[in-house]
Amino acid sequence: MANDIAVVVRDLNYLIGEKYILKNINFSIKKGDFVGIVGPNGAGKSTLIKILIGEIDNYTGEVMIKGKIGYLPQFQTFNREVPINAYQFVKMGSYKNKKNVKLIEKLIEEVGLSGKEKQLVGTMSGGEIQRLSLARALISEPDILILDEPEAGVDQMGKARFYELLEEFQKRLNLTIIMVSHDIGMVFEKCTTVMCLNKTLHCHGPTEKIKPDELKLLFPDFDLWIRSKNHYEREHEHGDI
Ligand SMILES: Nc1ncnc2c1ncn2[C@@H]1O[C@H](COP(=O)(O)OP(=O)(O)OP(=O)(O)O)[C@@H](O)[C@H]1O
Ligand SMILES: [Mg+2]
Repeated sequence: MANDIAVVVRDLNYLIGEKYILKNINFSIKKGDFVGIVGPNGAGKSTLIKILIGEIDNYTGEVMIKGKIGYLPQFQTFNREVPINAYQFVKMGSYKNKKNVKLIEKLIEEVGLSGKEKQLVGTMSGGEIQRLSLARALISEPDILILDEPEAGVDQMGKARFYELLEEFQKRLNLTIIMVSHDIGMVFEKCTTVMCLNKTLHCHGPTEKIKPDELKLLFPDFDLWIRSKNHYEREHEHGDI
């Protein structure tokens, strides 16, 4: 595996019963890439992520990962009744029992929540909890950050802020980021590489080389998306925000 490569997947197949969930998947990801994985519901995106993080291991093929992984799962729900504060929430991401007070405080500050260390997580907004989850995933100082639909349930402003943070971390720490997203606009604006998945890999390459026709095949409502200045935006009806 070359030095500048973070992930290699070769001839990956995954079946449940007799049904292919993932078929003949081949790709590699360079260190420092910000990869956006797009595809319709049921395409196998979360399954691929679970294979990368080692949660699913009964696949065939080769999966090679260089470096430590930090992971933000899909559908994380925080029970707002749980009486923990922001500091404790971030600390939970650390497997080491050593005191890393400084790192926790630094991360809370970097995700824009300094001064809120003692605030109960249950009293924070969805966007704040999501940024706190990002801090928690970064506490183990990963080389590769994997996120599954991190924008779900967060408003447009919160989303934009979150993507900016990801881009900042990616550039500053030379972090490799692999992110599943349904927000094609954000993916085309922020990601360096796009992967279109629907059981097989339909396309994979630098963002600027992905052709609209390839996406059209995957998304029946693709006509609602317009391409401008190298990024996609959902077309809005008048009066719609
Ligand atoms: N435990 C399971 N048992 C049976 N089928 C499963 C299981 N987990 C996933 N599947 C099937 O595998 C396929 C891929 O699911 P997966 O969750 O990876 O899709 P996805 O691309 O993440 O979808 P979404 O965009 O809705 O999150 C689906 O057809 C799903 O029904
Ligand atoms: Mg999924």
